[in-house]
Formats: sequence, C-alpha cells, structure tokens
Amino acid sequence: MRVILYTGKGGVGKTTVAAATAVRCARLGYRTLVISTDAAHSLGDSLDREVGEHPTEMAPNLWAQEVNALHELEEHWERIHAYLTALFTSQEGVDDIVAEELASPPGMEEVASLMQIKHHKSDGRFDVLIVDCAPTGETLQLLAFPDVARWYLNKIFPIQRTIAKVARPVVQPFTKIPLPGDEIFGHVKDLLLDLEGMKKILGDPKVCSVRIVLNLEKMVVKEAQRAFTYLSLYDYLTDMVVVNRMLPPEVTDDYFDAWRRAQQRYSEVVDQAFSPIPIMRTKLFDHEIVGLDRLTEMAESIYGDEDPAQIYYRAVPQKLQKVGDRYVLRLQLPFVGKEDVDITHREGELYITVGPYKREISLPRVLNGKKVTRGKLEEGMLSVTFADARA
Ligand SMILES: Nc1ncnc2c1ncn2[C@@H]1O[C@H](COP(=O)(O)OP(=O)(O)O)[C@@H](O)[C@H]1O
Ligand SMILES: [Mg+2]
Repeated sequence: MRVILYTGKGGVGKTTVAAATAVRCARLGYRTLVISTDAAHSLGDSLDREVGEHPTEMAPNLWAQEVNALHELEEHWERIHAYLTALFTSQEGVDDIVAEELASPPGMEEVASLMQIKHHKSDGRFDVLIVDCAPTGETLQLLAFPDVARWYLNKIFPIQRTIAKVARPVVQPFTKIPLPGDEIFGHVKDLLLDLEGMKKILGDPKVCSVRIVLNLEKMVVKEAQRAFTYLSLYDYLTDMVVVNRMLPPEVTDDYFDAWRRAQQRYSEVVDQAFSPIPIMRTKLFDHEIVGLDRLTEMAESIYGDEDPAQIYYRAVPQKLQKVGDRYVLRLQLPFVGKEDVDITHREGELYITVGPYKREISLPRVLNGKKVTRGKLEEGMLSVTFADARA
C-alpha cells in the first residue's frame, strides 16, 4: 500500500489537493482511501458527500474516512497525555534532538488517525492511502511522536518500570521525571509499541512520502520551509511541493499587480528552498473546488497526465545528527565545488549560497544558542557542525 501525506499551513488547500489526488488515483484504478487526521474534518465538504468514521464509498474505487478517536484510547488518553506531557517537559527527559523538539504529545484524534494507517496497511484492502493532515505544526508534532516514543521506550521505560515497582515512594522525591502508576504503564507501553509500528510504515520511503502544499505568501512559505526541515530531520521523505492558488496569466487587472509581484518573488524562493524536489503548480480557479468533477479538474492541473501515486523524489536531502556534544547538519549539494559555497548563520536560519543561489534552511530549536564551527564539502555532501556558542 502506498501512503501519501498532504500537509501545509491552515487554509492553503491541503484537503482540496488531497481529495483531488484521491479522485485521480481512483480513476486510474487504484483502490483508494482518503482519510483526514485533522480533528476539524472537511473531507466531506470537499467531496460533497457525507463521510463516515469508517471507510465510506464515494465513487468506484474511492473511499473516504473521517477518523473518530478510538474509544478504548479515549478512556485512558487523558491520563496518558497528562503523564507524557509531564515527562516531556521534565528536565531529565531532555538529552536528545527528538525529545527537545517536543513540548507536549499530540492530540488523541491525530494519534487515533495514525493508528488507522497501520490498520489499513495490515488489512490490505487499499492500494493507495491519501492522508489529509492537520495544519503543519500539529502534523509535525504527530510525526515526531513515534521517535520520542521510541526514545522513551528504550531509555526511560526499562529503568522506570523497575524503579516504580520497587521504590516509587523512595525515588520520586529525587527525580524530576514523574513515575506513573502500574495501570498507566500497561497502556503507555501498548501505545508506544503501536507507534513504533506506525513509524515503520511512515518512515519507509518506498511506501510513504509527504507533500507540502503552499501558497505564495511570506508566512506560508516560511512555514513550509520549516516543515521541510523538520520532516527531513525525522527521516520522512518529502517527494513533492504543491504550489496552490497561483494567479493565472489571464488575470490582468491592476488590482492584482502587487499580488502578482509577490507571487513571482516567493515563487523563486520556493524554487531555491525545495530544489531538487519536484514543485507542482496550480492556479487559483475562478470557483470553489467542491465535488468530484471540480476535484478531477484540479488533479489534471497539478499532475497533468501523470500517475500521482508514483514516488516523485527518493532522497531525504538533509539530515541532522548528534555527534558527541555537537550537531552535524548534512545536506546534499551535488555538482558544486568548495569555492562556490558560502554559509551564513543568523537567528535560527542557515543561509547557504552557491553561486547565485541562496538556500534558506530554518534550523530546529535544538540549535538555538549554538554556532557554526565547521563546514565541509565532500562528495556532494555538505556537513555543517554546530557547537555551543561558549565552546
Ligand atoms: N486553487 C484553488 N482555487 C480556488 N479555490 C480553492 C483552491 N484551492 C482551494 N480552494 C478552496 O479554498 C478553500 C480552503 O481549501 P482547503 O482545501 O479546505 O484548505 P486546507 O485544508 O488547507 O485548510 C476551499 O473552499 C477550497 O474549495
Ligand atoms: Mg483541511
């Protein structure tokens, strides 16, 4: 089963693009399911049909599902959530890139939707699963969750389990990590194991890729760039960027001049920030995009006559690793020489200039207060080392 996630800032057209893609996949003969992980479901509005909490048939080969929080999870989630929040914000829990990024665990609805992906994968009923995600921030939190969970499972869980059993009353005063009661242990462990399974699916670049939807506006593009960095950081494959709502050339009214210039400018920023990932463009239509026919029209505008289920790009082009007390950011910069590359680091952004091209990388929070101590270009791979500003 192929899995494609669509994410982006609120309102950019994620649901519309996801639904359009699903409609096209179904027409191509794939048994296609489109589900939403956004608690504010709007798939039904987009497809112009009622969508249930189980896969609901919309058209030949096309099903849609708006996931409801699983009931058994619901029962325990409040306590698990409170526990995990305390855990992630406790000082001792923080010694890893992944843990530092996460202040609180994602909401239950989203976790429940992720569970569905795993369910559908083992069920084998669908060829393509299209996921209409919540706005970027929440989605990233959700996608980071399995990593945090794994970290917890490996490092904290075994120790804590022993400690909690034997000596909770004695140890609790000396550790900032809250120790849960026995019943919570069971549920947390089950949940974490499920998340492990999910990450195996979503982190497999032969199965799953993420597509970032954006509009050509400053804040939207910024958020998309940050999302791209974080996705790469967590090893998710981004195989496409969809630029939505471009002003079409037939709009010549002066009223839109400033918009057109801004779009032109951000279009170049997008090219440089996401290259070599394929960038698909679609226009601002002169009508809303609701119902199967309109969605088909949009799919044509995005994908032409291509198969949208293909994997459009196969490499995760940037990675951040912790090496001792330093962090090393590695990115692919093929076809350039040392003398062509210039690196500037300013306020959470890294600017990499290669000849006339400037690539802007939004750095993850873990690099706050660190400075660049080294840059190395070897076999098309640029490594930038960050260390404590004091060192
Ligand atoms: N290219 C476009 N042209 C015209 N209307 C669009 C376009 N893309 C999206 N829309 C409309 O914008 C609204 C918001 O889109 P939606 O997909 O729900 O955004 P998101 O899921 O990102 O919040 C919908 O009413 C949709 O029909
Ligand atoms: Mg939406």
